[in-house]
Amino acid sequence: MCGIVGYIGYRDAYPIIIKGLQRLEYRGYDSAGIALFDGENINLSKTKGKVDDLKKKAQASMSLKGSLGIGHTRWATHGAPNDKNSHPHYSNSGDLVIIHNGIIENYDAIKKELVNRGYTFSSETDTEVLVNLIEEVKLKENVKLGKAVQIALNQVVGAYAIAVIDRQKPDEIVVAKLGSPLAIGVGENEFFVASDASPFIEFTNNAIYLEDEEMAIIRLGKEIKLRKIKDDSIAYPSIQELQLNLEEIEKGGFDHFMLKEIYEQPRAILDTYRGRLLAKEGIIRMAGIDQNLEKFLNANRIIIVACGTSWHAGLVAEYIFEDLARIPVEVEYASEFRYRNPVVTDKDVLIAISQSGETADTLAAIKLAKEKGAFVFGVCNVVGSSIARETDAGAYTHAGPEIGVASTKAFTTQITVLTLMALKLAQAKGVFDRSRFHEYLTELEQIPAKVEEALLTNPLVEIISNVYKDSTNCLYLGRGYNFPVALEGALKLKEISYIHAEGYPAAEMKHGPIALIDEHMPVVVIATSKGHYEKIVSNIQEIKSRKGKIIAVVTQGDVQVRELADHVIEVPETLENLTPLLTTIPLQLLSYHIAVMRGCNVDQPRNLAKSVTVE
Ligand code: AGP
Repeated sequence: MCGIVGYIGYRDAYPIIIKGLQRLEYRGYDSAGIALFDGENINLSKTKGKVDDLKKKAQASMSLKGSLGIGHTRWATHGAPNDKNSHPHYSNSGDLVIIHNGIIENYDAIKKELVNRGYTFSSETDTEVLVNLIEEVKLKENVKLGKAVQIALNQVVGAYAIAVIDRQKPDEIVVAKLGSPLAIGVGENEFFVASDASPFIEFTNNAIYLEDEEMAIIRLGKEIKLRKIKDDSIAYPSIQELQLNLEEIEKGGFDHFMLKEIYEQPRAILDTYRGRLLAKEGIIRMAGIDQNLEKFLNANRIIIVACGTSWHAGLVAEYIFEDLARIPVEVEYASEFRYRNPVVTDKDVLIAISQSGETADTLAAIKLAKEKGAFVFGVCNVVGSSIARETDAGAYTHAGPEIGVASTKAFTTQITVLTLMALKLAQAKGVFDRSRFHEYLTELEQIPAKVEEALLTNPLVEIISNVYKDSTNCLYLGRGYNFPVALEGALKLKEISYIHAEGYPAAEMKHGPIALIDEHMPVVVIATSKGHYEKIVSNIQEIKSRKGKIIAVVTQGDVQVRELADHVIEVPETLENLTPLLTTIPLQLLSYHIAVMRGCNVDQPRNLAKSVTVE
């Protein structure tokens, strides 16, 4: 996610902002920038790369004086990572400068309107549109910066945490928040703004956390004015005295990045379909599909290549694409596909799935498919990554940086993107009637809340984890859409707790694995109500009769499995195709707690890297 930092007070702003940006590096970013008011002008420097690159560029190109300034680390969502798209952004007049964390969904329409009024743009970003909208409002309505920001924000749709400064009014910073975090540090005759408290905790532990749809006008020597953006009513600041240390702030108060990222999934799934899923209008908007629809509709088949967790998401996609869009799909390990001299033609579409966008085997598989004439579509989480640049088109997950080596929110956001793609293609092929399409769109909108509910199983999962933390083996079973989830659950346990685990289609048990079952073998069975329920119940009975210990993930209200299993974890009901988004949650938590109880390094497990850029 992007990081924002601002300062207004009696000290030099430059060192405070630079150090603050370094404190936010853990959020992941691809470029950085800073703007400082030197008493007359706002000077600005920004660059693709790291904060160290920014320091070199700023020291060589701008005055570092001034006690008012803002800084930014960018995690690209609109526009590739480069100098021009980096923040801060000037308005056309050069008077206003903005930094922004979030996504303005309707920036395109606003940009067209501003261009018609003579505005010019030097970047591809939604943020540069926002600062010029604020300028247009300020000039047209003849209002101060705070009012202009408020009026402008009532015209945008999306998520934001912004800080804006005005050369004409250098004694204030205006900030606003909707959907992205923003904290105000309240010092003695100085104020700080930041994405979290880490940039200012060494100066003050007094913080105000803006609520959604709140803005603040921060003026030196004055009380902070908090406003509701929608109706201008006054909001009253509650100053919190923070007791957190730096590391706790970076992890959002969680013990590990992995747990933080597990809990970020409702927001990550929402951000991933934000602007794409328009349930009321019955539309799925995906430029990468819209502009290449014929290629998908005329394809002989879709080949999915990926590794690890992304490969599991690809298996879920196979079920969804074939079930809903009726398009033949094959899923391949990228590392096998690239070496087996596969038959690929220009009638094939290849989908490459990769969180990092840098996995060597997946990149190689893409290049091979392109050489053979296939159209290649990427599903990545890192904007501007190698795979994102190599593919012909794509759709990003908006999970934000995934720091923990074990993929969690990457998996659920990949499934979200792939589900949107399958629904869009099903609609384009006329396979779906309007009511069924609408049913899916409205259910998808319920998923973030249902993931929140699934996360409520955490205390129960922790208790179960304590029972099985010393196991040496574990089996994971699922049928249909939950077979890939069984594989994913096994991978999670293996890679962070070092317990050997295997995922299987439940029906495969009788073809060998059932020989493993005894009272020492915990078996995780995903037995939700939709899809082969009766059959999976009989699998559970087979395991029980051989004294296997059964941990069952079931649909809320389940009775039958509850009578058979040793432990039952309930998740909300949803459409069969969307079940993986919920059933994976307790399995992520199970692997997390067992790993912690075993004293493993959860965020950096032994022998593993977050991105496997070697073959
Ligand atoms: C999963 O938890 C692991 N981090 C690993 O299997 C990962 O999914 C795999 O290396 C693929 O990475 P990618 O999605 O970045 O391509």
